[in-house]
Amino acid sequence: MQLPKRVQIKEVGPRDGLQNEIMFIPTDAKIKLINQLSDTGLNYIEVTSFVHPKWIPQLADAAEVLKEIKRNTDITYAALVPNSKGLERALDAHVDEVSVFMSASEGHNKSNINKSIDETFPVLKEVVDGALAAGKRVRGYISTVISCPYDGYTKPEQVVYVAERLFDMGITEISLGDTIGVGVPTQVDALLQEMLHHFKAEQLAMHFHDTRGTALANVMTSLANGITKFDSAFGGLGGCPYAKGASGNVATEDLLYLLHEMGIETGVNLKKIQQTALSIERIIGKNLSSKLAAIARGEEES
Ligand code: HMG
Ligand code: MG
Repeated sequence: MQLPKRVQIKEVGPRDGLQNEIMFIPTDAKIKLINQLSDTGLNYIEVTSFVHPKWIPQLADAAEVLKEIKRNTDITYAALVPNSKGLERALDAHVDEVSVFMSASEGHNKSNINKSIDETFPVLKEVVDGALAAGKRVRGYISTVISCPYDGYTKPEQVVYVAERLFDMGITEISLGDTIGVGVPTQVDALLQEMLHHFKAEQLAMHFHDTRGTALANVMTSLANGITKFDSAFGGLGGCPYAKGASGNVATEDLLYLLHEMGIETGVNLKKIQQTALSIERIIGKNLSSKLAAIARGEEES
């Protein structure tokens, strides 16, 4: 099997994970967790999000978190930004990199950011222009790339349509999200085959939610297609508003185990990520779905 030698992990737990937790994690605890993540060898952490705090109250403390964390100059500290108002707040808090986001499907885009797909492009263009003018790199997310909870299956050509417009704005990388964690390897393969007709593998990252336990299988398919960047969340944090009780992003520690055992380097310390997963479990008072966190918990208890 042809596999890459090295993969970059983009840790999105503090944003994608914590935005989905019912409990508001105290600001101090968030800062400590991010500082703990900064000591694991990760070189990219998505710290928070500057969306409307009414929509995501769990991250209403975005500015304070970004300002108070201990920065390691080897790490990019990114944040999600939906519009110019969000960009202004993110720049004020000294964000390193901006992530804009939209969906490949109309139903999810409307429900998530209150606009049609075509109405979203000018809003994001303003963010990208502003971020680039401030000397920041911009990453783009495309959600619901496999299927949408409102519109059903997404055609790969629709993902290409959105990606082309985002790249035209000057975005350096696009993360393709199986937002509701329904995808299976044949679908991921079909999507990537189409995407790779138009874009280079280095321009793409994959963002799998493990709602139905298919995330690592989808990672394998992506690796076989030459993808070398993956988003994941320590502990497998998060959930899915469309599937009650479901697990969140693929767990960073489970992904690391898979990659390291196959001889793929990441530069990230598995044990330290497992410890961070146990830290958040203690804060929220429940066990998360991650397999490697369960093993670390078992080792601590015995
Ligand atoms: P809207 O209500 O259409 O916004 O929301 P608006 O532009 O009409 O403004 C309404 C009011 O909100 C105004 O205040 C604005 O100033 C204020 P007023 O003048 O009435 O007093 N406002 C803001 N305040 C603070 N920060 C802001 C901001 N923007 C406007 N940034 C908006 C549109 C996009 C803001 C809203 O729909 C929103 O915040 N949505 C966020 C949804 C979200 O965070 N979803 C989860 C993240 S996406 C995700 O998880 C998927 C991903 O992980 C990948 C995957 O899994 O596929 C990335
Ligand atoms: Mg996500």
